[in-house]
Amino acid sequence: MSRTAFVTGGTRGIGRAITERLVADGYKVAAGYAGNEAAAEACAKDLGVLIIKGNVGDFEACAAAVRKAEEALGPIDVLVNNAGITRDAMLHKMQLQQWNEVIQANLTSLFNMTRQVIDGMRERGFGRIVNISSINGQKGQMGQTNYSAAKAGLIGFTKALAQENAKKGITVNAIAPGYIDTEMVQAVPQNVLEGIISSIPVGRLGSASEIARCVAFLAADDAGFITGATLTVNGGQYIAT
Ligand code: CAA
Repeated sequence: MSRTAFVTGGTRGIGRAITERLVADGYKVAAGYAGNEAAAEACAKDLGVLIIKGNVGDFEACAAAVRKAEEALGPIDVLVNNAGITRDAMLHKMQLQQWNEVIQANLTSLFNMTRQVIDGMRERGFGRIVNISSINGQKGQMGQTNYSAAKAGLIGFTKALAQENAKKGITVNAIAPGYIDTEMVQAVPQNVLEGIISSIPVGRLGSASEIARCVAFLAADDAGFITGATLTVNGGQYIAT
């Protein structure tokens, strides 16, 4: 049976690698995106997936996106809450807007998207929800009070939702990537990035495909006993218990 997945932020960076991996594994995939049309069209063309534009911070937009995906592909079995943004600044320089944008896109989005699919998953007795956190939600990061708070909050959301749905065949897990070679990480000031890379025991940035394989692992039908977990994937930079 071919399962259906929705990957938010699924047309660029880690999300694109997740989309690619799930397609390769035989899933029907809807890839959400916020505004980069060129990347979305390339994703649709290269991978043959359905691309759906919408803001994950907006509840009604999420409802519309999931409706569109389900009409085209069938009920969503796997939701990957991957979309995220950074608005880095030291707290003493951070504006309320930078705080709000990150909380909305990286944390409220989990409610907005998951609320659209959870009833169907419960009715069908199967679901896989994978939330993409970050090393910086686990250890904190200077310049990222907003992002670290959202990514840590996502782990709490994951644990609570896992408990609520364990009896319904639905697993809910988080992945906490370290620094992955994406546009988001390349936007970090070069001198700061060099310092970060030197603190990674494996000695390099991770690749998006290394996160995608973890999503595939957690999304699988035979991963039903793994729930409420956070999978740490950071090259040894932070060894979380
Ligand atoms: N590690 C070590 N030192 C850091 C640092 C970091 N991540 N970020 C900032 N610093 C240091 C700077 O080198 C600087 O030190 P000195 O005064 O000794 O030179 C000091 O902190 C102040 O930094 P800035 O002069 O850059 O101050 P600023 O106000 O202009 O900018 C900042 C601050 C916005 C935090 C900027 O330094 C920055 O963008 N840092 C990177 C933050 C970061 O790591 N973001 C992760 C983005 S990737 C991501 O989020 C994906 C993921 O999940 C891992």
